[in-house]
Amino acid sequence: MGTAFITGAGIRVGSAVARALGRAGYDLALHAHRSVASLESLATELRSLGRQVTLYSADLADPDAVDALGARVRQEHPALDVLVHNAGLFERIDFASISRAAYRRMLGVNLDAPFFLTQALLPSLLAGKDPLVVHLTDIGGERPVSQYAHYSVSKAGLIMLTRALAVELAPRVRVNGISPGTVAFPEDFDEAARHAILQRIPLGREGSVEDIARTVVFLAREAPYITGQIIAVDGGRSAQL
Ligand SMILES: NC(=O)c1ccc[n+]([C@@H]2O[C@H](COP(=O)([O-])OP(=O)(O)OC[C@H]3O[C@@H](n4cnc5c(N)ncnc54)[C@H](OP(=O)(O)O)[C@@H]3O)[C@@H](O)[C@H]2O)c1
Repeated sequence: MGTAFITGAGIRVGSAVARALGRAGYDLALHAHRSVASLESLATELRSLGRQVTLYSADLADPDAVDALGARVRQEHPALDVLVHNAGLFERIDFASISRAAYRRMLGVNLDAPFFLTQALLPSLLAGKDPLVVHLTDIGGERPVSQYAHYSVSKAGLIMLTRALAVELAPRVRVNGISPGTVAFPEDFDEAARHAILQRIPLGREGSVEDIARTVVFLAREAPYITGQIIAVDGGRSAQL
């Protein structure tokens, strides 16, 4: 089937994407930063399905670590079929309080890391079969939410990177974004915050990490004519004012 590399694969959306691609038959190169223990148990589960799994750990806020990760994955996987940039920082801060360090870290993880990892892995992608890059963007990258200015800017950049690479890397490499609405609440959101968000979702409920995972599998397996698109998986939230 081929090989997929997924960043931030230890927990939540990333682990669901890895599990779905593994079940679809892909061998896996999986990255985590802090969630190494859960990444290892996911690897055990996927190996029991007969998949080859290689594991990587890196802080994607550190440009040297990003470069080292890209070089290692490229060396160990000379052909890659799917690259999913899932790792991301999400942080609520008033605009007036965002330090230069917090801004740099946000942009580093959410935008610079996907940019330079794809660049490093381009030779592997070009050796893959119908290669696909997927960015986990956010509906908030097009319509901002207050107190997330640096996050919104990072995701807006990632949306443009999706379109820019879809144009430049065609026809060999497809590049698409998936914009979740709410598929897994941040653990620190209380009941009131959750209720306020659910009220604004036409389908009246949060999505699930599997909604994202099956969209990645769809793009990989069923969508050879889709590139440069941002697919909202948000229960209709971005459709209304
Ligand atoms: N959950 C949602 O409803 C939702 C909504 C909109 C957009 N998204 C996007 O979908 C993606 C996954 O969402 P999620 O909710 O599963 O994310 P999450 O629970 O916040 O997990 C963040 C992921 O990013 C990785 N990460 C964070 N900082 C990192 C760093 N400095 N270096 C390397 N990895 C780092 C984490 O790895 P470790 O745990 O290993 O450190 C983890 O896998 C993100 O890009 C997010 O912006 C999610």
